[in-house]
Amino acid sequence: MNTQDYINREDKYGAHNYHPLPVVLERGEGPFVWDVEGKRYFDFLSAYSAVNQGHCHPKIVKALTDQAQKLTLTSRAFYNSVLGEYEEFITKYFGYEKVLPMNSGAEADETALKLCRKWAYKVKGIKENQAKIIACEGNFHGRTISIISMSTDPDARNHYGPFTPGFEIIPYNDLNALENALQDPSVAGFLVEPIQGEAGVYVPDAGYLSKAYDLCKSKNVLFIADEVQTGIARTGKLLACDHENVRPDILILGKALSGGVLPVSAVLADDVIMMTIKPGEHGSTFGGNPLAAKVAVAALEVVRDEKLAEKAEKLGNIFRKELSGINSEMIELVRGKGLLNAVVIRPKNGKEAWDVCLAMKEKGLIAKPTHDHIIRFAPPLIISEAQLLEAIGLIKEAFKLFE
Ligand SMILES: Cc1ncc(COP(=O)(O)O)c(C=O)c1O
Repeated sequence: MNTQDYINREDKYGAHNYHPLPVVLERGEGPFVWDVEGKRYFDFLSAYSAVNQGHCHPKIVKALTDQAQKLTLTSRAFYNSVLGEYEEFITKYFGYEKVLPMNSGAEADETALKLCRKWAYKVKGIKENQAKIIACEGNFHGRTISIISMSTDPDARNHYGPFTPGFEIIPYNDLNALENALQDPSVAGFLVEPIQGEAGVYVPDAGYLSKAYDLCKSKNVLFIADEVQTGIARTGKLLACDHENVRPDILILGKALSGGVLPVSAVLADDVIMMTIKPGEHGSTFGGNPLAAKVAVAALEVVRDEKLAEKAEKLGNIFRKELSGINSEMIELVRGKGLLNAVVIRPKNGKEAWDVCLAMKEKGLIAKPTHDHIIRFAPPLIISEAQLLEAIGLIKEAFKLFE
């Protein structure tokens, strides 16, 4: 089978809920992936920042295969010998009293919303069914009905109503809007991405997160950080909130929590919040399974041992400096933090971000447009400086093709 055969088969039998770049991958190692024709690419998407530790990291794969031969799933109907070890490890790692393990990012976000509402009724004393959660325009928290009820993206929402009530949407990076919204005493939480990833890597003004946190505190409102994409070293700190020394009341993690090996997500909070959920009130068959627990410990150890946050910080500065230096009419703006970056594309002669991605693919680097005119660049954080410079060379060559 050649590339087109694989694509045709997916088109025929799979739902068309994605529009992939025409490349069929079959192998990955570190910052590289190979297609079915044997061609090598730099992976500059990292599965939407799930593969921060690089493809098939040997330590994470070993944790997976060792545990897979012992015990994979018990459900939470019983204790297992690995979950407690993981819970102790991750809570100490991020500095919280409790963790609630789930699988996908969307599930973790849903969990955080439920936790916030429960806290609102049990601790804050908001009247039953009145709790409101503030979210931001341009947000991306996943694809479930409740989560798209907060979305402002027509593609995410159209024809999926009716929507879940209880959310108020305010502009991102707007402290006045937050202050106004917080006047309502039934507000329980403020859910925010420290950098809006899917929206196109929107970095808020310096001070936004810390001031937003202070505003929330002044009204006894929970500050809930969705770090599914920004967390786990991606932006040059362990958490993007660390850039402003903000400790979220509820922290949502996913993606790189497993290094891309299997779906592992988590919600972290202290007892006063987490203990409002009682047995039987929330859960997931696969959440906290022994395989995921072992993999997550290994994935977090890799981040710490290989100093991936420091690497992301240093290499991100090089990346933005080099890309800002490219003399191309198609580059309107380069922005980002650490190794979560984006280039805003100015279309030229009918050529758009998609065409730039196709050109980069030909050169040996894959990335994907988000919202038509923005290309996100997020390589695995284990990429070396020499590899990054080589990759930047390919990006420059691709832009030259449009001169
Ligand atoms: C900030 C954020 N939250 C939540 C999600 C949803 O994660 P998942 O696709 O694992 O459900 C994503 C996915 O891109 C995300 O970027």
